[in-house]
Amino acid sequence: MSPAAKPTKTARRRKMAIAVPDNHVIVVFGATGDLAKRKLLPGLFHLAKAGLMPAKYQIIGSSPAPSALSDDDFRRHAKEAVREFGSSRPTGAAWQAFETALHFGAADPNDPAPLVAAVQAAEKEIGGHPRRLFHLAVPPGAFGSVVGMLGDTGLAEGSRVIIEKPFGTDLASAQALNQTVHSVFAESQVFRIDHFLGKESVDNILALRFANGFLEPIWNRDHVSHVQIDVPETIGIEGRAEFFEKTGTFRDMIVTHLFQVLGFVAMEPPTSLNAKPLRDEKQKVFDAMRPLDLAHVVRGQYRGYRAEAGVARDSQTETFAALRVEVDNWRWAGVPFYLRSGKSLGQRRSVTTVNFKEPTLRMFPTDARIDKDGRGNQLVIDFDDPGWIAARFLAKEPGPAMRLGEAEMIFRYADSFVRAHELEGYERLILEAMLGDQSLFTRSDGIERLWEISAPLIENPPPVELYSPGSWGPEAAHKLIAPHRWYLPDGH
Ligand code: BG6
Repeated sequence: MSPAAKPTKTARRRKMAIAVPDNHVIVVFGATGDLAKRKLLPGLFHLAKAGLMPAKYQIIGSSPAPSALSDDDFRRHAKEAVREFGSSRPTGAAWQAFETALHFGAADPNDPAPLVAAVQAAEKEIGGHPRRLFHLAVPPGAFGSVVGMLGDTGLAEGSRVIIEKPFGTDLASAQALNQTVHSVFAESQVFRIDHFLGKESVDNILALRFANGFLEPIWNRDHVSHVQIDVPETIGIEGRAEFFEKTGTFRDMIVTHLFQVLGFVAMEPPTSLNAKPLRDEKQKVFDAMRPLDLAHVVRGQYRGYRAEAGVARDSQTETFAALRVEVDNWRWAGVPFYLRSGKSLGQRRSVTTVNFKEPTLRMFPTDARIDKDGRGNQLVIDFDDPGWIAARFLAKEPGPAMRLGEAEMIFRYADSFVRAHELEGYERLILEAMLGDQSLFTRSDGIERLWEISAPLIENPPPVELYSPGSWGPEAAHKLIAPHRWYLPDGH
């Protein structure tokens, strides 16, 4: 096993000032793929423009020989990606400087020589002892062989590695993958990425809960009736049939993004925001989660999915999942957490809603509509960047009668702070990985525990129920949450 990459000072204490990473050679595996095009290349350029890249860096794109590019072709590819998906235009001196740092090094497990040569050349170009960061933006099936190659070639030594989700497909495969990864990297070198944890508002759950005194006393089973974590999407599978058929919404979204958000919503206050205490507290939530109960799971598939290119005509892959999860600890026993995500739904949202219990004394005549929706007391956190937080409560309507109406106090990031330093999820996390801060990355024990509680569903998935594109998923999802309703800001 190679020695652990030494954490920088900033890794030990989550930073208050904006830190700039040490000099780096960054290798992006899967450099010609979808993720690199949509997120990684535009994100790296945005970091460069924002002055957050190291003083000296080189970025090496890599892929197996058949899809290898020349340096020039890779630069053109990156420019196209930034133009199409980036927040900054690929022009001017900033682009020129970034472009010069781009190179390509093909790598096959049995012929890693071009990549090794490219890394050596990049290190020479930078001089001194730059850090190495590998980003494995490859299909899950390829993680093992790339990790093996990094070990065999010695490139892994002292480096850091970002591994994409989903990490395994069940407990056994996640354990096997962790074993492979740990045969080459120490856990302190491993950054399992979940880009939802890089979103501003997810991090702000920590600030909201633990930097303020007024919420924590009511953030528990005495006051909370139920919690919803809801991430509907309007997009379909966008030509990703090969990935999606094997993955499905539960593995793609729930066991990853939504469970991680749940960890932040439900955790006890950590002793500090350092990686260890933060991840320890999240782990305790995962440990307290009960194995999924099939009576509380709905799997759906949008009509037309089976007609998409690359999808089996009798596919049972779910494009929608809704479930009720129990966190069996002192804070949350008896408080259901309802999770929902799906493709081709009526709206795109990323919302956590904490619903508070009604006061015991109902001295006010409320109207039937308010009673039915139960919307009086809610804290709503929209974590789609830039996001917002709203407190919903009941207030007296003006006039002689004591009539209650729904009221809302809302904080919008977009209106409230200077957003000059705002980073997209991936950008934030790549920066954190360069700084060596693992706080917002998932840990091997956490991933394994989440697969463990998912086993009843993975081993015995109920048949998918069809739903119409543009709808809110199968009817059963509404029954699952009854007598409550799925809450979305504009009323669905
Ligand atoms: C990805 C999933 O991890 O997250 C996609 O693979 C999904 O299926 C995406 O669409 C959603 O992320 P965001 O940042 O667009 O909300």
